[in-house]
Amino acid sequence: MINGGAGVAFVGSGSARVETELSNEMLSRVVDTSDEWISTRTGICHRHVANADESLTVLAAQAANNAIAAAKLTPEDIDLIILATSTPDDLFGTACQVQATIGATRAVAFDLTAACSGFVFGVVTAAQFIRTGTYQNVVVIGADLLSRWVDWQDRTTCVLFGDGAGAVVMQACDRDRLLGFEMHSDGTMNGCLNLAYTADSAPLTDGVSTQKGTFTAITMNGREVYRFAVSRVPEVLEKTLFHAGLAADDIDWLILHQANQRILDAVAKRLKLPKERVVSNMAQHGNTSAASIPIALDEWVRSDKIQPGDKIAMSGFGAGLTWGAALLEWGL
Ligand code: ACO
Repeated sequence: MINGGAGVAFVGSGSARVETELSNEMLSRVVDTSDEWISTRTGICHRHVANADESLTVLAAQAANNAIAAAKLTPEDIDLIILATSTPDDLFGTACQVQATIGATRAVAFDLTAACSGFVFGVVTAAQFIRTGTYQNVVVIGADLLSRWVDWQDRTTCVLFGDGAGAVVMQACDRDRLLGFEMHSDGTMNGCLNLAYTADSAPLTDGVSTQKGTFTAITMNGREVYRFAVSRVPEVLEKTLFHAGLAADDIDWLILHQANQRILDAVAKRLKLPKERVVSNMAQHGNTSAASIPIALDEWVRSDKIQPGDKIAMSGFGAGLTWGAALLEWGL
């Protein structure tokens, strides 16, 4: 336990992807779809999918290592690792495997599950530990291999998702660069988007049976989730801006969960933000769930588009249903 400043800075980013690329055209040989349908309805052209010998642990560890190096730190400097994921290698959690893989020997590590809102919820959670002076250097990772849980015969979902990992290093500092946040959940809409456990009964002994089930593939009511996203995301961003005393025009970059280009366009239009300030990389990655925001952030940082001092508004939304926003200033 270390006493740091009361503020939070965002000092490094990293990302990692698997090599295998799956194009819309390749998918059209698997299900009744077309490149034209997928690209015009979603903005997605390619996604990356993990093969059987690739793991969430390795991908998340690569993203974390890249972020730690960008922050000019070593793994031994890290106090806390939060791994936002819905697709762990182990249901008991994967964060500890990441901690061991990168050699962050001092860090406590745990998983956080909030689907596509996971990275934003992770950043907010990390900030609480930093603001209280409990931890100084925290790595928040968003990583998902949703291809593990996609029904490849369901054209309404299989064209959307891809695999990847992204990470950010947050650090204690005097001036707080987390300018505001909001988080929400609405479990009454839980049935719109699920990766649900289904129990089979397995007789054990006299009158006692146990469960021996599995998780069924992703199911989604796309239209309902779309309607939810285009109403809730602008609302949560406007609230967060208002509480921070900022206007939409003060934002240099809008990084939304990369679910659908039409959602990005609708939110940008409502906030009256020009296209150039809206970060979009779903054409190359598809929807990578908790990884989509940190991958986009890292790509824009590494291509020198995002500069220290830039104001970034992030918003994640998805299963739960959950949604949230975080406003931050990049760099020290
Ligand atoms: N190829 C061809 N046709 C298709 C495909 C496909 N891949 N998928 C659906 N269709 C058909 C449908 O069957 C339907 O045909 P019908 O009119 O004959 O019934 C037609 O296309 C239109 O289907 P819609 O579902 O109305 O298509 P829509 O324009 O709504 O796009 C989409 C679907 C892309 C899923 C959209 O609703 C969407 O993006 N929803 C939001 C998803 C989202 O934001 N998820 C975020 C969270 S993810 C997470 O948390 C893990």
